[in-house]
Amino acid sequence: MDKMVLTGGKALHGTAPTSGAKNAALPILFSTILAPGVHRFRNVPRLMDIDSTAALLQSLGCEARRENELYVVDVAELKSFEAHYDLVRKMRASILCLGPMLARYGHAVVSLPGGCAIGTRPIDLHLEGMKALGAEIELKDGYVHAHTKRLKGASILFETATVGGTENVMMAATLAEGTTILENAAKEPEIVDLAEYLNKMGAKISGHGTSIITIEGVSSLKPAEHSIMPDRIEAGTLVIAGAITRGDVKVTQCRPADLESLLIKMRESGFKIETGDDWVRVQGVSEWKGVDVTTAPHPLFATDLQAQFMALMTLAKGTSVITETVFENRFMHVQELMRLGADISPKTRVAVVRGRPSLTGAPVMATDLRASASLVLAGLAAKGETTVGRIYHLDRGYENLEGKLSGLGAQVRRME
Ligand code: UD1
Repeated sequence: MDKMVLTGGKALHGTAPTSGAKNAALPILFSTILAPGVHRFRNVPRLMDIDSTAALLQSLGCEARRENELYVVDVAELKSFEAHYDLVRKMRASILCLGPMLARYGHAVVSLPGGCAIGTRPIDLHLEGMKALGAEIELKDGYVHAHTKRLKGASILFETATVGGTENVMMAATLAEGTTILENAAKEPEIVDLAEYLNKMGAKISGHGTSIITIEGVSSLKPAEHSIMPDRIEAGTLVIAGAITRGDVKVTQCRPADLESLLIKMRESGFKIETGDDWVRVQGVSEWKGVDVTTAPHPLFATDLQAQFMALMTLAKGTSVITETVFENRFMHVQELMRLGADISPKTRVAVVRGRPSLTGAPVMATDLRASASLVLAGLAAKGETTVGRIYHLDRGYENLEGKLSGLGAQVRRME
């Protein structure tokens, strides 16, 4: 298993580009099931989760391949309607094939995703949504069995704003008979990117990006072309890398508006942030202050940046109270940050971070995707050497992170 070895304490300088968004690419790749033919995408990041998606699409009978800068999905008639446990357990987002399969074929068998490091993460709201559209759902032998003749439009109120649930039901509703209205829909930019691709395919979706999404069902969809939006979580992580090392970093090819809640907190903490059309520049300061953050659905502070922001706060002057409201078990990085000398008192959903003047390198273990990013950030700032184990978590969601950090002057290498 690969490890990442970082020698910390070097200020990062320069420009780093943002890759395509994992969380937009995954649902968009699954949405191809809705329309037979050849779909063409740009800006699909090179990530393990993209390879897992390709493996699942291939197991169903689609072809997914890279052709230079393009990512091509060739969708014929599906050979199988079963998303097997071996594929789904590697990536929870695999559940997103349910809506498209059900909408196009009236039939889908998808493994339940099972346990997850950052909480129980149920899929009940995905299933309630499919039922509201008229599907019969049965849970048997660890699998969801879904059937319908043709889905029918309905009004659906999500009890919790769920990103995956909104995406799954929105995809299913594109081919339903009649109009579907989703209330308390999630508003994440990745949902907007998905809706834009679905509309390019001929869907009739409006209201995406707000909490009420309306989908007028159509009888068929056609493949289209799309460039995946920039990854706001990767961009945010790179901005924090510039800040935590007291460097000067310009993150390009991103959308600053998508990062607003992070940038507000970084300015409040004392960092100098400039933005342009598609870039954010952060200039490090010798001292920054502890600020409180509470994660919540978009446009509020993203849970996917909580761990990275906590790493930044471990070196702040004063105290920061970090509250996680989206997932119930998302503080696994805390114990590892403490191994680097951080002073943190975690409770179930609240962590009090008392900033220290410095951190010291140590071997640490990544537990999930964003936790591993926070350990890398802390390692960049810590004195001496930090080894981050189980770096495969990072490969699920960050394209060439060590290359991008090295390009900014970080001393970082991968070791088997
Ligand atoms: C997506 C993102 C993930 C991000 C999360 C929250 C992808 C591939 N992943 O995950 O990176 O951290 O949004 O921004 O896009 N819930 C239920 N029942 C359900 C579904 C969700 O109770 O059926 C709960 C979850 O347990 C959680 C909350 O709703 O507490 C939000 O989860 P959700 O938005 O669905 O997250 P994901 O789509 O899994």
